[in-house]
Amino acid sequence: MGLNLAQKIIKNHLVSGEMVTGSEISIRIDQTLTQDSTGTMAYLQFEAIGIPRVKTKKSVAYIDHNTLQAGFENADDHKYIQTVASKHGVYFSKPGNGICHQVQLERFGAPGMTLLGSDSHTPTGGGIGMLAIGAGGLDVAVAMGGGPYYLTMPKVCKVELKGKLNPWSAAKDIILEVLRVLSVKGGVGKVIEYAGEGIKTLTVPERATITNMGAELGATTSIFPSDDVTHEFLRAQGRAADWVELLPDADANYDEHIVIDLAALEPMAAKPHSPDNVEKISTIGKIKVDQVAIGSCTNSSYMDMMKVAAILKGKTVNPNVSLVIAPGSKQVLTMLAQNGALADMVSAGARILESACGPCIGMGQAPCTDAVSLRTFNRNFEGRSGTTSARVYLVSPEVAAASALTGVLTDPRELGEAPKIEMPEEFVINDNLVVAPAPEGNDVEVVRGPNIKPFPVNKALSDKVSGKALIKVGDNITTDHIMPSNAKLLPFRSNVPYLAEFCLTPCDPEFPARAKENGGGFIIGGSNYGQGSSREHAALAPLQLGIKGVIAKSFARIHMANLINSGIVPMTFENEADYDTIDMNDELTIENAIDQVKKADTVIVRNLTKNREIKVKVSLSDRQVQMILAGGLLNFTKVNNG
Ligand code: F3S
Repeated sequence: MGLNLAQKIIKNHLVSGEMVTGSEISIRIDQTLTQDSTGTMAYLQFEAIGIPRVKTKKSVAYIDHNTLQAGFENADDHKYIQTVASKHGVYFSKPGNGICHQVQLERFGAPGMTLLGSDSHTPTGGGIGMLAIGAGGLDVAVAMGGGPYYLTMPKVCKVELKGKLNPWSAAKDIILEVLRVLSVKGGVGKVIEYAGEGIKTLTVPERATITNMGAELGATTSIFPSDDVTHEFLRAQGRAADWVELLPDADANYDEHIVIDLAALEPMAAKPHSPDNVEKISTIGKIKVDQVAIGSCTNSSYMDMMKVAAILKGKTVNPNVSLVIAPGSKQVLTMLAQNGALADMVSAGARILESACGPCIGMGQAPCTDAVSLRTFNRNFEGRSGTTSARVYLVSPEVAAASALTGVLTDPRELGEAPKIEMPEEFVINDNLVVAPAPEGNDVEVVRGPNIKPFPVNKALSDKVSGKALIKVGDNITTDHIMPSNAKLLPFRSNVPYLAEFCLTPCDPEFPARAKENGGGFIIGGSNYGQGSSREHAALAPLQLGIKGVIAKSFARIHMANLINSGIVPMTFENEADYDTIDMNDELTIENAIDQVKKADTVIVRNLTKNREIKVKVSLSDRQVQMILAGGLLNFTKVNNG
């Protein structure tokens, strides 16, 4: 039986384990990326591991999230990352160079390679045929040190694209359709592999929009073949030498198979407050729009921006709409400036933001109270925009631009003929915002400003784990709930003690105080607990507060890995109905915890308050068991490195 794409790359990089679905494997990592909001922690952890020089083929540290410098904190982080990167052999992409995933695609990514990034949208690299996976910063630190990355051998779901998109339908509509069909949980434990005749009609930036937002499916990653289209993109980036052809075998086997007819798709939106709450624009109706934000790692490519500019050209943004546009990289912005498209946007009344995450990560542009905000981004969780009452709709750049002109949610087909934008023959290449690391052996002083604080490290698991149920939350709690990310908190990503004061406060403002008062305890969660970003601060902040275990109906993949990395025991209810039997402040205890965890199966939790026992599952690999026993990945790595 032949291999699919994902299996081919995994096979080429396999370090341990068998390629049997559901079993733990480890793979060699060729490239890593970090962004600043997870990067400070990743490099602090890398330093703690004690390896002098990264062992990957290429590692890049980006500054794209916390680019606002309202105080010294972000600037301190940037300086720390720049100097620590230089010292240890990591390329540094300065603020202004662009969003990590966009720049990685343009300048560094290569088909057939593995990429591990401390950002959940790292799968963007699947657009050029990389196996690109998002992970916590500590996993990335270990990979930089030459350690393999451990994951569960995924199922591979083939998404066969048939036909061709109609004018005004976009790559965004393809991934929204996949989200509608599979839901935000539908990709868990899977690689989504795109195939079929339809893929030939999609450019690399369009493919990258799809693989980027595959993160919202909960998938391990998404991937497209590396074909002539990929070759052409890399050639236009001056990187033809990085191209290799990568196609699935003709007789490749897949675990699942979905077919999407591109010609049947029409412009869609993900309605508040979930990326899978998808409906056609034509049936949602003409709701009034207050803000339109175009950009993010999902839709900020040159092609996206050129379509937006063409729609805006010669027109004026509706007086009731604030339109902001953030081109994804310096390369994109330079090209728009050179060919006049930037002038078309500005003349129409758009506000141009720097090439960074910006409003996507809450760095400015919070909409007004009760606003409807149309965004070309990938997430619309409640409050992520910075305004709790705002309703965010995720749309294509075409829908966004059309609606910015009319002031109401608009099906762009009403505008008449769609603009035809060609891929450029050559992209403008100027990497002068990328700083190469200092040569090995050079003495580089790592600069640590006062915002760089030590991070919490767990202790080895004790034999009796006990404490109160300190909070009980519902389903689909996101990492934004667990560790809110906004312009006020982002500058403190290297200061976990301060951040912990805000842990889970969107669910319960008293939680941090209660946790500290009780010396730690347990979190009780619903299903898909920890969905959303890769931020390991959603595990580090609970660790800082003394959280020992999380009992949930189910976990999102990266968050569960981050909990294990922090030595916090993730447990799932064997019988989900037991969720209803635990109330806040119930005293819970696990006797013989070491033996029970070692069995990595059913664990008995006694609810002393209710005088009853419940069974929970601790589904861990042998290695994960060792990590929990050691008190997290850092302790485990140190022990194993002698
Ligand atoms: Fe940045 Fe938003 Fe992407 S925060 S990396 S643009 S999801």
